[in-house]
Amino acid sequence: MVKRYKLFPSEEKLKTAIPLGTKKMLRIGERRICVFHHESGYKVFDNLCPHSGHSLLEGQINAFNEIVCPLHGYRFSLLDGRECEMRTQDLQLHKLEVSEGGAFLLLID
Ligand code: FES
Repeated sequence: MVKRYKLFPSEEKLKTAIPLGTKKMLRIGERRICVFHHESGYKVFDNLCPHSGHSLLEGQINAFNEIVCPLHGYRFSLLDGRECEMRTQDLQLHKLEVSEGGAFLLLID
């Protein structure tokens, strides 16, 4: 099931809050979501690493566009959330949609 949440009232506000090359954690109810602003667009994942629950917001992006979890070094594609060596679950990639009405998160349950 997908739920739609308005995150920002405009694209400009989104870009100001999360400039290119940065990341931010947002709270949606009880859930914590990481938004990465990458050159390929906004990439949105749940904050917890599926391996053992560490915060992915603290991870670094390597030269291969992978999020590297700081706890055990598992790597997840920033482009689609795939775990690079199939050692644990992939990350769920959520969509961020920008329209005249604002920036909306399409959150998959
Ligand atoms: S908690 Fe992320 S790799 Fe182990």
